[in-house]
Amino acid sequence: MLFDEPSSRTYLSFSSAISRLGGRCINLEFNKSSRMKGESMEDTFLTFQTYVDAMIVRVSDSSFFDMIKNRDLAKIPIINAGCGNISHPTQALLDVLTMREERGTVNGLEISVVGDLKNSRTVKSLLRLLKNFRVKVNLVPYNKYLAMNDDKYLNEIQRGGIIIEKFNSIRDVIEHSDVIYMTRLQKERGSYGNTFTLDNKLMSKGKQDLVVMHPLPRNQEINNEIDADPRVAYFRQMKYGLWVRMAILYNLLVSNN
Ligand code: NCD
Repeated sequence: MLFDEPSSRTYLSFSSAISRLGGRCINLEFNKSSRMKGESMEDTFLTFQTYVDAMIVRVSDSSFFDMIKNRDLAKIPIINAGCGNISHPTQALLDVLTMREERGTVNGLEISVVGDLKNSRTVKSLLRLLKNFRVKVNLVPYNKYLAMNDDKYLNEIQRGGIIIEKFNSIRDVIEHSDVIYMTRLQKERGSYGNTFTLDNKLMSKGKQDLVVMHPLPRNQEINNEIDADPRVAYFRQMKYGLWVRMAILYNLLVSNN
């Protein structure tokens, strides 16, 4: 596993998935690697793939996977475990699995995506996947600077089955949402401002079968007083991540061989 950004859940669930499937995993700690001697990410990647059967890669550089693809550098399966502020496809798979497991079906759901929509890669991958379903998505940024303002991306999303509506506050969507998908402020990507906080008072306005999700880590946008509410799914969501990542690895490395 090659991670040049911090990670807890993605890293641990992938390592757990590998060992549960009978595999072994090696990791490169960046601050002990030749990256510290000025080696490029590209050379680090080429080195790493010499020693393994598949690679799980998290990078801050949003163009990294395109570069690998365009220059045909990958000789083994490469899994994107988070790419800059643009994509996190395995998170999207586990998010949709969570909705399906919690509510029985994804079609017909009204999903409110709340928070840092500009810099959250999990949101961008989630909407790309959700465009294959008949869902309504409410976009609820913390402030106008954190809105989803990439027209090319929004046009791509809306070519699918999604209906998109924009709101200014979580209070405008809490009563009619089936899913609330909270995200934190991506401070490390330059996002700033106040956040909304989902607490017991707001939860009291939500539907009986509301599903509250968060890719985690959370900051102040979720008050931990709601953790015991049965509608809170973010801890179960972590576990679905393990099953999804086991399935991905199984499909790539076991079932085809
Ligand atoms: C997310 C990520 O790294 O993009 N975390 C995760 O993988 N579960 C969300 C985040 O960092 O806010």
